[in-house]
Amino acid sequence: MLTVSEVKSLAEPFNNQTTEEILGWAWKCFGTRAAIGTSFQGAGLVMMHIAKQNNLPFPVFTLDTGLLFPETVELKKRLEDFFGFVIEPLVADLTVEQQNDAQGPELWKREPDLCCTMRKVFPLRNKLSDLDCWITGLRRQQSDTRSDVGIIELYSFDEAAGKDIVKLNPMANWAREDIWKYIHENKIPYNPLHDQGYRSIGCAPCTQKSGSGEDERAGRWIGFKKVECGIHTFMSKKNDFQI
Ligand code: ADX
Ligand code: SF4
Repeated sequence: MLTVSEVKSLAEPFNNQTTEEILGWAWKCFGTRAAIGTSFQGAGLVMMHIAKQNNLPFPVFTLDTGLLFPETVELKKRLEDFFGFVIEPLVADLTVEQQNDAQGPELWKREPDLCCTMRKVFPLRNKLSDLDCWITGLRRQQSDTRSDVGIIELYSFDEAAGKDIVKLNPMANWAREDIWKYIHENKIPYNPLHDQGYRSIGCAPCTQKSGSGEDERAGRWIGFKKVECGIHTFMSKKNDFQI
């Protein structure tokens, strides 16, 4: 595993490198101990395409909460056909029905943090325990809480066991317009909900359309103070520097 100072020395050069160079570095360093996590939104689609074009066969996974839009479920199949690889679904211990029985119906309307913890954070945690590098599509432009995302970050995964994990955000500097230009130019299948006014798409009960004057993720968890599902906040960052 990389040390904090190694991560620090990589951070600045990465800021000036292309996404394919950064992904190439990750493949050399970690091979299949690195994996791409995607919710099939713009950045994930571009990253999968760049990985495929450059013969970097990272495993790809998605958190399948059981509450996704039918369009998103369908998109997974379309992408598997388009790219020619399988996208691993990570599921929660309880089905939605079992969760309804255990916690009462529509937990997301009452305790979205608990719902996200059970349906997203725990399955992700389980997956990351087998990885050294988690590759995400986080972008600085997405929201205020993401404006300082680093291209490479080091997180403490399990303090007791001394396990750290590298989080790589190779799309951090990409602007929304460039992502959509790339998707259209390369004819990558995308979620048709984007053409209906949904700018950030997560689980169906917690996603609404949002206006172009708003923050990209404004349509998520309307009515709650919640702005993050927890997958990007449950670990503690070891590197405090910012580029
Ligand atoms: S979210 O964390 O609030 O859902 P967003 O949808 O903007 O955030 O996605 C940011 C990045 O988080 C994605 O590029 C992806 O790497 C990761 N991510 C978000 N949702 C999922 C998901 N359902 N499965 C796998 N990764 C995800
Ligand atoms: Fe539950 Fe909503 Fe979180 Fe999905 S986004 S896991 S439905 S609270």
